[in-house]
Amino acid sequence: MKALLARPLVRAALAQGGALGLVLLVWGAGWKQGLPALLVLHSGLAILLSAWLGLPRWWWPIQALCLPGALALLRLELPSWVYLLVFLLLLLIYWNAGSDRVPLYLSSQAAWGAVAQLLPAGPIAFVDLGCGLGGLLGFLAKQRPEARFCGVESAPLPLLVSWLRLRGRSNCQVRRADLWQVELAEFGVVYCFLSPAPMAELWRKARAELRPGALFISNSFAVPGVSPDFTVEVEGRQRLLVWRV
Ligand SMILES: C[S@@+](CC[C@H](N)C(=O)[O-])C[C@H]1O[C@@H](n2cnc3c(N)ncnc32)[C@H](O)[C@@H]1O
Repeated sequence: MKALLARPLVRAALAQGGALGLVLLVWGAGWKQGLPALLVLHSGLAILLSAWLGLPRWWWPIQALCLPGALALLRLELPSWVYLLVFLLLLLIYWNAGSDRVPLYLSSQAAWGAVAQLLPAGPIAFVDLGCGLGGLLGFLAKQRPEARFCGVESAPLPLLVSWLRLRGRSNCQVRRADLWQVELAEFGVVYCFLSPAPMAELWRKARAELRPGALFISNSFAVPGVSPDFTVEVEGRQRLLVWRV
């Protein structure tokens, strides 16, 4: 139960359900207002319950707009298969958003260049944990033909795009795998661009498995309580945090 409640999606669903239940209770008790007033009440309650359940603030507007948004969509009278299709597409792309709390967004091309500058000379082995659409890997594999590049991805659509994009590159491989199952000892450079959620656990894994001297590079997300050895500012909103293990 505790593990279930640790998941933000579960808490978000509870807040929505709880708010709806309370609105129905108030309505049943005689507060027979029109739909707009009921929706305002529901949004307010959804925010309060979200705060009480410890959801971060950025969830609050989503929670407030969830029911009004759903009702507005219903008014469009779209065929039901459209919802199923959109749901499946989102699921195939954002496969890890619910479990690992890591959605898909991409390293900028400026970040690709900054990572290339950090790579040691020689035939190194590099892994992008959660390689998304494979853009960084393709760029690096072209620049460094003597090195070996590996992408790990578990979301079906990004995995397919990476595989199609990189299949002609002999020094680059894309693995369909959960990043937590990948043995890191074989790599001299580990790159990730994930989210704040997995960083503490990923650092523990990197420390346990990486060989001394290996580089651990995180785009934008810090490891709680562990300062990077150095930081590379990248044009735009990304920056590279670098640890030498
Ligand atoms: C923010 S994207 C970064 C994509 C790419 N590395 C880049 O920098 O452009 C994070 C990727 O990690 C993937 N991911 C998240 N959790 C994962 C897991 N447990 N195993 C494999 N891939 C995962 C997501 O599907 C997503 O494609």
